[in-house]
Amino acid sequence: NNNQFCDATNIYGDSGCNVPSSVSSKILIKGGTVVNAHHKEVADVYIEDGTIVAVQPNIKVGDDIKVIDATGKLVMPGGIDPHTHLAMEFMGSETIDDFFSGQAAALAGGTTMHIDFVIPVNGSLSAGYEAYVEKAKRSCMDYGFHMAITKWNETVSEEMEIMVKEKGINSFKFFLAYKGSFMVNDELLMEGLKKCKSLGALAMVHAENGDAVFEGQKRMIELGITGPEGHALSRPPVLEGEATARAIRLASFVNTPLYVVHVMSIDAMEEIARARKSGQRVVGEPVVSGLLLNDSVLWDPDFHFAARYIMSPPIREAGHGTALQAALATGILQLVGTDHCTFNSTQKALGIGDFRKIPNGVNGMEERMHLVWDTMVASGQISVTDYVRITSTECARIFNIYPRKGALLVGSDADIIILNPNSSFEISSKSHHYRTDTNVYEGWRGKGKVEVTIAGGRVVWENDELKVIPGAGKYIEMPPFSYLFDGIDKADAKYFSSLRAPVKRSMT
Ligand code: URP
Ligand code: ZN
Ligand code: ZN
Ligand code: ZN
Repeated sequence: NNNQFCDATNIYGDSGCNVPSSVSSKILIKGGTVVNAHHKEVADVYIEDGTIVAVQPNIKVGDDIKVIDATGKLVMPGGIDPHTHLAMEFMGSETIDDFFSGQAAALAGGTTMHIDFVIPVNGSLSAGYEAYVEKAKRSCMDYGFHMAITKWNETVSEEMEIMVKEKGINSFKFFLAYKGSFMVNDELLMEGLKKCKSLGALAMVHAENGDAVFEGQKRMIELGITGPEGHALSRPPVLEGEATARAIRLASFVNTPLYVVHVMSIDAMEEIARARKSGQRVVGEPVVSGLLLNDSVLWDPDFHFAARYIMSPPIREAGHGTALQAALATGILQLVGTDHCTFNSTQKALGIGDFRKIPNGVNGMEERMHLVWDTMVASGQISVTDYVRITSTECARIFNIYPRKGALLVGSDADIIILNPNSSFEISSKSHHYRTDTNVYEGWRGKGKVEVTIAGGRVVWENDELKVIPGAGKYIEMPPFSYLFDGIDKADAKYFSSLRAPVKRSMT
C-alpha cells in the first residue's frame, strides 16, 4: 500500500496535520480545455478561497499567484460518486476504508465528493445520522448522505421529515434484498415512497428479490455449491429484473421519482428503459464493476481471488457490462457510481466454505474516473462533455446541489481535476491509496490520467503526491425537491381529475 497520507503522522513527516503555509488560496489554471456538461472551450480558470471566480481566456494575475499550466489537458469538474459505503457495519464486519482513507484514495483518482449511505441504528434514523456524523469527522473531502430505511413506524416517518428539513438529506434507500437484515417488504416500500414524495426526497432502491435470493442460496447449499460462484448462481439477473420492475411500478403507482442503484444486468436496465420510454421518472445508476468486470473471476479455483469480486447484485456474465455501457452512452442510464464497499482479505475469508458469509462489496472510489474515461471516452463511446455529465454534473442535479457542484462556473466550488488524455494509468493494490489490501482492477492499464485534483480550492493531488487534511472535507447539505419533482403535482392533479365520480348506490 502506498498510504502516504496523514494518519497518525502525516505526509509532511511531522505529527499532526499542518497545512503548509505556502499553500495558496489563489490558483490560476492556464490554457486547458475547460469542460462542462453543456460546453467545452479553451479557457483559464481562476479560483480564490475555494470558489471559482473567473472562467475565460487569457486571465492575467500577479506573480504571487500559483499558476498551473494545463495546456493540452482537460480541466473538468471533480467527480462526484453517488454511491459509497465507508466505515459501514455490514455482514458481521465493518468496511475497511473509512471516511478518511476512502476519500483520500478518491481524491487521488479525481473524485472530489461522494454521497454515502447512513445506516439506521436499530431502525433509528437519528441515531444512525449521529453515528455517521462521528464517522465522517476526519473527512478530507466533501461528502453528503443518503439514508437507508430498514423499518417502518410513526417515529421513522417523523424522523424522515427531520432528516430532510434539518439534516440536509434528500434521498432514502430501500433494500429489497438482504432478507433478515436490511430488507423491506412491499408495504414498507410503499409507505416509504409516499413519504419520500411528500418530502420531495428521492427514493432509491437496491433491486433484488430478497425472498427469492434466500431460496436461491438454499438451493446452492443443497447442491453443495458453497464457493464464491454460488453467490452469483443464487441471485441470477431475473431476480434483479423482477425487483427493478416491481419498484418501478410501485413508484409509478405512487407517482414519485425513483433511483435504481447499482444496475448490474440487462434485465434491470431493460425495465428502466421501458419505464423511461413510457415517460416515468426513473434514474438508473450503473457502477464501475458492473460496467467493466464479468463473472469469470468467480469460478477461479483460488477462493481468496474469487471472493474479492463478491458484491450484490453480483457481477454478471460478459455481455451485461457492454449492454450497460451502451445504455449509459445513450442516456438510458444517467450516471456512474461505484458502490465502493471494501473488505480486506481477512474479512473476505469469513466466507470460506460458505459464500453467504463473504462480506459483499468491491472497491472503486479511486478508479472510477480513470476507468470511465478509458472505457467510455478513450474508446470513443461518449464525448468529453458527456463524461462530465455522467461522472459529476448529473449527480449534482439529481441531488440538488448543482451548480455549486458538478460545474466549472463562476461561483461553483473549486473542485477541479486536470486530466491528461495522452498519459496513462495503471491500477495496483501496491500503489492504490486505500487501506484495503486488494484491488478488483489489479493490473488494469488505460489511457488518460488525472494529474491534478483540486478540492475546495486546495491542490490535494499533484505529481503523484497526496496532500490531504483530515477534517478539511465539508458536509454538503442537499435540499429536497430536485428537478425530478418539477411537475409531479400536475400529474397528480391529472390523475385525480381522471377518476370518474363514484357510483351512488342505495343500501337496499
Ligand atoms: O455488495 C454490495 N453492493 N455491498 C454494499 C451494500 C449494497 O448493497 O449496496
Ligand atoms: Zn445495494
Ligand atoms: Zn488464496
Ligand atoms: Zn451500495
